Amino acid sequence: MPELTIAVAKGRLQAEALALLAGAGVAVPSDALSSRRLAVEDESGRYRFIFVKPADVPVYVEHGIADCGIVGRDILLESEADLLQPLTLAIGRCSIVVAALTGVSLSDAGMLRVATKYPRIAAAHFGARGRPVEIIELSGSVELAPLLGLADCIVDLVETGRTLRENGLNVIEVINESTGRLVVNRASYQLKAEAIGSLIGALDLAAAKEFES
Ligand code: PRP
Repeated sequence: MPELTIAVAKGRLQAEALALLAGAGVAVPSDALSSRRLAVEDESGRYRFIFVKPADVPVYVEHGIADCGIVGRDILLESEADLLQPLTLAIGRCSIVVAALTGVSLSDAGMLRVATKYPRIAAAHFGARGRPVEIIELSGSVELAPLLGLADCIVDLVETGRTLRENGLNVIEVINESTGRLVVNRASYQLKAEAIGSLIGALDLAAAKEFES
């Protein structure tokens, strides 16, 4: 029976998260990775991994189904889950930005229509500036919204900037920077202190080694 269950965000962070874990001595067998299985054990049998959508990582960890998780700060800012965040990981570096079509000035618009996958981050950002906004929540391909006239601007992630560029959008403002985080369930942190402590230590060491190289 594995000691710890770790939820890993699928998608942009997954490869880097698994590489970091491997550096920390927690290796997932390659046949398990190339399969479509969503729950696998590491080679030692100490850890079980579940691969879930990024927004679901805080849900599994808060409910204690997973003891820990690896997920981007962007997701944690959007989530209201009550989690411990003992470690910042230098993976999945990106920014959360406001972007609009090149040449468009947002100060011209009265009520701004903002398309986003991050409704809370967007509402908090414009709310703090006293700017009235209509938040249009989308699940992906958010860059299309200003192009097709659905929104005046977007709040979205930028990693390389390629998606914005290729769709004629420019960054207007950076709201936040994001990297990966290790998150831990509050009860697990107490009840499985030794196993979680050793995972945090190994990840911290692996991250430092990666930073040096
Ligand atoms: C993210 C984000 C941007 C893109 C940015 O989308 O929402 O669309 O990546 O990356 P870039 O700056 O390197 O071009 P994701 O790939 O998660 O897919 P989605 O649009 O379906 O959410």
